[in-house]
Parts: sequence; C-alpha cells; structure tokens
Amino acid sequence: MAGFILGDFNRRVRLLFMLVIVIVLNEGKGNTRAQCIERERQALLRFKQSLVDPANLLSSWKSSNPSCCSWKRIRCDNRTNHIIMLDLHPEFRCRGYDYDCFRSHSISGKIDSALVQLHYLRHLDLSYNGFTRIPKFIGSFKRLRYLNFSGNRIIGTIPSQIQNLTRLQFLDLGFLYSYSTMNANADNLEWLSYLPSLRSLTLGSINFTKAVDWLQSIKKANSLSTLNLNNCQFPEVDIWSLSQTNSSNSLRSLSCLENEIHTRTLPWLLNVSRNLVYLTLHANYDVLPENSFRNLTYLEYVDLSGNEIEGGIPKSWGNLCSLKTLDLSYNSLNGTLHDLLDSLTEISNLPRLKGIHDL
Ligand SMILES: *[C@@H]1O[C@H](CO)[C@@H](O)[C@H](O)[C@H]1NC(C)=O
Ligand SMILES: *[C@@H]1O[C@H](CO)[C@@H](O)[C@H](O)[C@H]1NC(C)=O
Ligand SMILES: *[C@@H]1O[C@H](CO)[C@@H](O)[C@H](O)[C@H]1NC(C)=O
Ligand SMILES: *[C@@H]1O[C@H](CO)[C@@H](O)[C@H](O)[C@H]1NC(C)=O
Ligand SMILES: *[C@@H]1O[C@H](CO)[C@@H](O)[C@H](O)[C@H]1NC(C)=O
Ligand SMILES: *[C@@H]1O[C@H](CO)[C@@H](O)[C@H](O)[C@H]1NC(C)=O
Ligand SMILES: *[C@@H]1O[C@H](CO)[C@@H](O)[C@H](O)[C@H]1NC(C)=O
Ligand SMILES: *[C@@H]1O[C@H](CO)[C@@H](O)[C@H](O)[C@H]1NC(C)=O
Repeated sequence: MAGFILGDFNRRVRLLFMLVIVIVLNEGKGNTRAQCIERERQALLRFKQSLVDPANLLSSWKSSNPSCCSWKRIRCDNRTNHIIMLDLHPEFRCRGYDYDCFRSHSISGKIDSALVQLHYLRHLDLSYNGFTRIPKFIGSFKRLRYLNFSGNRIIGTIPSQIQNLTRLQFLDLGFLYSYSTMNANADNLEWLSYLPSLRSLTLGSINFTKAVDWLQSIKKANSLSTLNLNNCQFPEVDIWSLSQTNSSNSLRSLSCLENEIHTRTLPWLLNVSRNLVYLTLHANYDVLPENSFRNLTYLEYVDLSGNEIEGGIPKSWGNLCSLKTLDLSYNSLNGTLHDLLDSLTEISNLPRLKGIHDL
C-alpha cells in the first residue's frame, strides 16, 4: 500500500516536472518565432520592390515589421530561423485563359537577385504568376527540394544552372500554353543527370527541337517516378544510342498531352519503364504503334481519350493484365460494344470502361 502511494507521488512529481519542461520549451518557441535573420528580411524586401503585386498578396511584408518569419507566404526553420519556404502561388484561380483576371490576381515583374541571400531555401513555389524569366542565379539555391514555375509564361532558354540543384525532388516547368509559338526552349536535357533525387518532373510548352538527347536523358533519370510532358515539341531520337542506354525502370506515371512526338519515337518513350501504372496519352495520335503496351503489365490506368483511334482495339496493343480503367472517349471507334468487350477481355481482365457513348 505504502509502495503504491509512493509510486503515485513519484508519478505526480514526474508529471509536474514534465509540465515545467513543456512550458519552458514553449517559451523558447515563442521567442524564436518573433526572430528572423535580418539579412534574409532585407533580401525579401528588395525582392518585393521589383515585383508588381496588384492583389497585394505581400501586404504583410513590411519594412516596419522585424519578424519576417510571421510574414505570409514565408516559412522559417523553427530552430535556426532561416527562411526555408517561399510560396507565391495565387490562391485565386482564373478560369481558362482569362488574361485580365490572371493579371490582376498574380505577381509579376523581375525576380531580383537579392533572393540569393535565402541560402537555406528548400521550397520555392512561384507557380501561376506572371514571371517571364527563370534567372540563372536559380542555381545558387543548393538546398532546394521543390521548385515550381508552372503556369508562368517563360521566355528564353531554360538555364542549365538548374543542374546545380542537386537535391531537387520536385521540378515543375509546365509553362503556360501560348497559342502560336513556344517562347521557352531548351538545348538539352543533360541537367537531368545532375538531379539524382528527382522524383517528379513536369515540362510544358517548351520547345525541345534542339535537344536530341531528350529521351536518353529521361531514360537515365533513375529516381524519376512521375513524368508529365504537356504541349512540348521533341525531335526524333537516335534509336541506336537509345538502345545503348539502360532504362530507369522506376517511372510509374507518364502523362503525355498534346506533344509533338514522332510516331516512331513513341514506342521508345513507352519503353522507358516497365513499371508504368498510370498512362495518359492524350496526344492526337491516329495510330498507336503495334505492341505499344507489350511489356507494360503493371498498367492499371490508361487514358487514350482524344486521339483519332479508328475501328476497334487491336490485340497487338499488348497484355494489359492489371488494367482497371481504360478511357477511350473522343476517338473514332466503331463496331459493337460486344466486339469491343471481346477484344478487351483478350488483352486484359475486364476493365472499367469509359467512353462507350462514342461507339
Ligand atoms: C519544427 O519543424 C518540423 C518540420 O520542419 C516539425 O516537424 C516540428 O514539429 C517543428 N517543431 C516545432 C516545435 O514546431
Ligand atoms: C553551379 O555550380 C558550379 C560548380 O559547383 C559553380 O561553379 C557555379 O558557380 C554554380 N552556379 C550557380 C548559379 O550557383
Ligand atoms: C505546381 O503548382 C501548380 C499550381 O499551383 C500545381 O497544380 C502543381 O501540382 C505544382 N507542381 C508540383 C510538382 O507540385
Ligand atoms: C521550335 O524551335 C525550332 C528551331 O529551334 C523552330 O523551327 C520551331 O518553329 C519552334 N517551334 C515552335 C512551336 O515555336
Ligand atoms: C546496362 O545494364 C547492364 C546490366 O544491369 C550492364 O551490364 C550494362 O553495362 C549497362 N549498360 C550501360 C550502357 O550502362
Ligand atoms: C524496348 O527496350 C528493350 C530493352 O530495354 C529493347 O531491347 C527494345 O528494342 C525496345 N523496344 C522498343 C520497341 O522500344
Ligand atoms: C519487351 O521486352 C523485350 C525484352 O526485353 C524486348 O525485346 C521487346 O522489344 C520489348 N517490347 C516492347 C514493345 O517494348
Ligand atoms: C470500322 O472502321 C474501320 C476503319 O475505319 C473499317 O475498316 C471497318 O470496316 C469499320 N467496321 C465497322 C463494323 O463499321
């Protein structure tokens, strides 16, 4: 009995002691929260000066406010107080291509080189703003894990300095579509080989006509698991050198929307990984090459909508034994539903089927 009471007492003392520690820790946190590295604060203020911000997204960035860690769209490391995140994506999404709406809700202007002071930046999201250049000094953010430039109308060559961002895991260069010309281009994709941790890559509205190595580089990107190619122009590839390149085998998701990829190159793109699970080929192909999916036995989701596939489903497409969803809407399929289901059961286990209304 006495032992029990003593144990209870001990427990209470321990509890009290723990409470004291928690309070002390919280005090410490309260203090650091107010702090911020003055050099980084000045860099943000200079960066803001060269921006056009009609929606006043950065109103909390005031020179009179010394604690920049509490500014909006910033996050500091809670131990060192260094700025680790800068996120300027607009919260308001404009519909379609409403340019006036877009302009009044986003940030534009020059990306001032003062920003290089943010040596500890890990996450940089400038998506869906009105920036037109990716500065070369982007290469100085050596700790970046996440870089998002999607939805901007970028002009000029993708700076090769991106290869300095060796810790990148997510890279989104899905620029905004402009109707007639592509204003962004890349001479090569060699920089991919310097990004050993890259898991997700999106490329959009970029002219890769001169990047003859593009598919080799993608094939060699070992860590890549998601690849989105939207509205880009690619040259035909040198099939011999491609066959000498080992496949990455890690790619699980490939989305290919409205690109200019030669029909002869397509099988090689699909051949990059045997582990594809998600495949979207919304690319206006009228003929999908024979045996396209021959080795892709893990495919679960295939979206072939919006192509010009005629007739039925060729058995030569391959062996889709894991298939769960197949979207064939907006094609020129004919024949009876019965025929279609027949050919599907031959290449797969009966999938969920979308696009029957097109038959
Ligand atoms: C500090 O930040 C890390 C992640 O950046 C988080 O996991 C952790 O909970 C934070 N600690 C405090 C005391 O806020
Ligand atoms: C990129 O890295 C190279 C070699 O590490 C260095 O010489 C160069 O200055 C870096 N460029 C930038 C923009 O950081
Ligand atoms: C980049 O930002 C856009 C819009 O803010 C978002 O839709 C997209 O998923 C982001 N990319 C990545 C890789 O997170
Ligand atoms: C892409 O670049 C090539 C030359 O580098 C040019 O001939 C072609 O017209 C460009 N494509 C587009 C869509 O701008
Ligand atoms: C490709 O992989 C095989 C086996 O993993 C290896 O023997 C060969 O040297 C590799 N080839 C190249 C060009 O890396
Ligand atoms: C697919 O890849 C294999 C090796 O990974 C290669 O031998 C073959 O020729 C390729 N076929 C096509 C059609 O791409
Ligand atoms: C499937 O894999 C075999 C063996 O690696 C290869 O010879 C063949 O070309 C591949 N087929 C396709 C369509 O990729
Ligand atoms: C379906 O279309 C193909 C090619 O357009 C044609 O050869 C075939 O006769 C059509 N089949 C039916 C049942 O209409």
